[in-house]
Amino acid sequence: MKNTVVTFQEAKDKGEKLTMLTAYDYSTAKLIDEAGINAILVGDSLGMVVLGYEDTISVTMEDMIHHSAAVARGIKETLLITDMPFMSYQTSVYDAVVNAGRLMKEGRAQAVKLEGGKEVCPQIRAIVNASIPVCAHIGLTPQSVNAFGGFKVQGKGEEAAQKLLDDARAVEEAGAFAVVLECVPQALAKKISESIHIPTIGIGAGGGCDGQVLVYQDMLAMYSDMKPKFVKQYAQIGDQMREAFRAYKQDVAEGTFPAEEHSFKMDESIIDRLY
Ligand code: KIV
Repeated sequence: MKNTVVTFQEAKDKGEKLTMLTAYDYSTAKLIDEAGINAILVGDSLGMVVLGYEDTISVTMEDMIHHSAAVARGIKETLLITDMPFMSYQTSVYDAVVNAGRLMKEGRAQAVKLEGGKEVCPQIRAIVNASIPVCAHIGLTPQSVNAFGGFKVQGKGEEAAQKLLDDARAVEEAGAFAVVLECVPQALAKKISESIHIPTIGIGAGGGCDGQVLVYQDMLAMYSDMKPKFVKQYAQIGDQMREAFRAYKQDVAEGTFPAEEHSFKMDESIIDRLY
C-alpha cells in the first residue's frame, strides 16, 4: 500500500508506529522501500554522510534535487520527503514556495521538510497552500548549529521545553502533516506527541513519539569514528565493507580474482592467428 500523508495521519489515529529512514541514492532507496519502511527522508544530512562536509550548511538546492530524483526512481510504496536546504526557505515566503516546488517538480519529492517552529510558520502555511505537504522539524535543528553553539540536546529547561511545545502546536496549526523531534528529552517528546494531533517522528527523542527516523549509515554502523547515543546499530556493515574491500585487494594481488568463472570465453585459435 502506498504511504501518503493521509496514511501517516491514520497511523497516528490508530496508534500504529511509523518508520522513516534517510536515503540519498537509487539502490539504497529500493532496499528501504522493499523493507516496508513508511517514509524515506532525503535529509540534508546528505552534506555530512555523503558529501563529507562537517555540517549541513553548504548543501544546495541542486544537491537536494539531484539526490531526491535518484531516490524517487527507487521507490514504489514509501513516502518520499525531501529536506529544504539551508537558506532555501529562511529568506522569504516566496523563496520557500518556489524552492519547495522545485523539490517536487525536479526532485520528485512527495513532501518537503524544513527546520524551525513559530518563525517558519508563514513559510509552512504558504507551501501547504500550494498543495505541497510539509513535515516540520524542531528541537536540535542542524541548520542552526552555529546559533546553538554545537549539536546539543534541546528543551531541557522549563522555558526551552515550553518553547518546543509551543512550536509543535504552531507548526501543526500552520498545516504541517508531521513534525520531526530531534534530540529532545524523552519526557518532553512524549508530552508533545500527546498534545498535538499530527504524528511526531523522533530521532534521539525516546519511545513516546509516534514514529522514529534514523540516518541509515548510523544504523548500519558504516562509520567507525562516530556513534551518537540515540543510535541502535542493526548491522556492522562498515566492518563488512572494509573486510570485503581488503579481500578484493588481496585476491587481485594474489591472482585469485578474476577466476575462470568470472571470465569470458572465445575460440582461442583466433588468438593464435593474430599478428
Ligand atoms: O537531514 C536529516 O537526515 C534529518 C534527520 C536527522 C531527521 O533531518
